[in-house]
Amino acid sequence: MEEAQEEGGNPAQALELAYLKAAFLAMEPADFVVSFARQSGGGSLTEGVQNFIMENCIKYMMSKNCASSRGYTKNILKKLISSAESSGNSVLEDLYEIYANYISPIKEDFSLKHGTRNFKNISFFYSNGSGSVNFVVPIQCSSNILEGDTGCSIWPSSLFLSEFILSYPNLFCNKVCLELGAGVGLVGIILNKVKASKVILTDGDLSTLENMQANLEINHLRNSNEVITGGIEVVECKHLLWEVASEMEITSYDPDIVVGADIIYDPLCLPHLVRVLSLLLKPRRSHISNLHEGDGTPAGCGEEDPVRNESRRRSEAPAAYIAVVIRNVETFHCFLELARGAHLAAVDITEEMPPSQLLPYMGSYDRAGVRLYQISSTRS
Ligand SMILES: C[S@@+](CC[C@H](N)C(=O)[O-])C[C@H]1O[C@@H](n2cnc3c(N)ncnc32)[C@H](O)[C@@H]1O
Repeated sequence: MEEAQEEGGNPAQALELAYLKAAFLAMEPADFVVSFARQSGGGSLTEGVQNFIMENCIKYMMSKNCASSRGYTKNILKKLISSAESSGNSVLEDLYEIYANYISPIKEDFSLKHGTRNFKNISFFYSNGSGSVNFVVPIQCSSNILEGDTGCSIWPSSLFLSEFILSYPNLFCNKVCLELGAGVGLVGIILNKVKASKVILTDGDLSTLENMQANLEINHLRNSNEVITGGIEVVECKHLLWEVASEMEITSYDPDIVVGADIIYDPLCLPHLVRVLSLLLKPRRSHISNLHEGDGTPAGCGEEDPVRNESRRRSEAPAAYIAVVIRNVETFHCFLELARGAHLAAVDITEEMPPSQLLPYMGSYDRAGVRLYQISSTRS
């Protein structure tokens, strides 16, 4: 995780260049990247923009030295060179040279070295008063969407949920947050960023958990050497398969907030998912008594007294925020029906609490297709 101010030059052009770099390093489709490059050059692929791409994007990708970065860079170079040539822009000699190098037979077997991994930098842009700040999360994922039972890819719902968490940080700050079907771990990294008091990432697939742990290490949130850290992990990764997890295990996590992105899609899993949700969202005894006795102030950031904070935390009923792309209406209605039967209320809050658009360069991300549901228990 790193934060960066926007690139130099005039602010508008600096922001366009920052979007161009973000799109390249997030491995966005070549058409989007070349279109950003053209915009940054005021409508043409100038030598200045080509030089920017070479210095800030291509050299970074070359340092990754793996098959997918090579393939991606080769594709962008091809598109960039052909677009520049066809619109009469001269092409930097260095770009031709690098491209020639990329299309020559590979001497080393890069795919053996790094498998089918993609290394993407997901950059969140927001304003900090004095300009645009760029918060970058490096993520290792797979180029095969079915790998790790789909958990090794970044899905649009997790981008949406990340934007939501960054837009409403007080909902998560100082809270124990648990994610179901956490995939690559992006949402957990964001929860840590907004100062959740504890983050528990769970998934039912073991290879997904392995990749998730690698991402936490890349983002310095987990050290593989537990002797050095004394066994303390900032973000925990847990194997939690909805079908087999015991009631005792599930309730032992005792979260304030449950999150999930793109986990409502398999009709066979739905009864198990609803069981897990209803156990995690069960009102606490202290919540029920505090409905009458509590001071009513929600726990939030900036609370100094940990004891007071803990008592406030426990006086609030747990809630879940689930982001979903509804691909099959029947499956989603089946989820809602099961949730109702388990005394869970699911409210669509997409319009009521819209997240800020923090990924403006990501043309491949269809945020309009994502809905956000708040789920809570109707039991008292
Ligand atoms: C479509 S992926 C979404 C991953 C991530 N949340 C995202 O949005 O990028 C679904 C995730 O749910 C996990 N999952 C699916 N069925 C599960 C089950 N029965 N128990 C636990 N996890 C499950 C998968 O391993 C995978 O990581």
